[in-house]
Amino acid sequence: MTIHRYDVLASTNDEARRLALAGAPHGDAVVAARQTGGRGRLGRSWISPPGNLYVSVILRSPGSAGSHPQVAFVAGLAVVDAVRPLPASLKWPNDVLLAGAKVAGVLVESDGGALVCGIGVNVAQAPAGLPYPATALAAHGPTNLEAVLAAVLAGLDHWWQVWLANGFAAIRTAWLQRGPAPGDPLIVTQGPRRTAGRFAGMDMDGALLLQTAAGVQRILAGDVSGA
Ligand code: BTN
Repeated sequence: MTIHRYDVLASTNDEARRLALAGAPHGDAVVAARQTGGRGRLGRSWISPPGNLYVSVILRSPGSAGSHPQVAFVAGLAVVDAVRPLPASLKWPNDVLLAGAKVAGVLVESDGGALVCGIGVNVAQAPAGLPYPATALAAHGPTNLEAVLAAVLAGLDHWWQVWLANGFAAIRTAWLQRGPAPGDPLIVTQGPRRTAGRFAGMDMDGALLLQTAAGVQRILAGDVSGA
């Protein structure tokens, strides 16, 4: 496993996809000190100043190419474990929260028959002006970028092995232990549509289950916030 390090990249996911296409093996990682075109979920940008973690890991397994949603949950678990003893939690699908504010995000893409798992962790600072509450590890105690990188890579390896050995059911169980409590009020935004409801679990395929006045809805994509 090689860690490819850069001072600056547009996006570590782009470089990891390039390496994947060139045949880089499972576990190779791309790290940049900052990004000029960091990407988030749903076409958003990921503001990427120095001091935070930007890493993209190449993941290969037979049949993994169609598994991005499952692997994004695997990565969320890895980050929650990596920031211990801080009590992080998960917001569907794979935002990592500390005290209700976002501290990390995951973007899984595929190229060259591999998955590229991009992880951004606010280590030193939370970018200002975001449309949601955000925080950084440094606001919760002493932290070290290299130690966070090592812990994220170890966590990803651990949960990847769990997923390979036991399938998504094991990932789902672990996610639910670190996710919202049943009945927590949530608002799901999908484009112009906002749906209010209560957390009713996660389906066997990773869909969010939202209890609404009209019954339980299965949500496959969207933004979730607390009500
Ligand atoms: C999100 O929460 O919207 C996902 C954010 C993912 C950001 C990371 S930073 C490393 C990798 N490179 C990118 O361009 N995006 C991911």
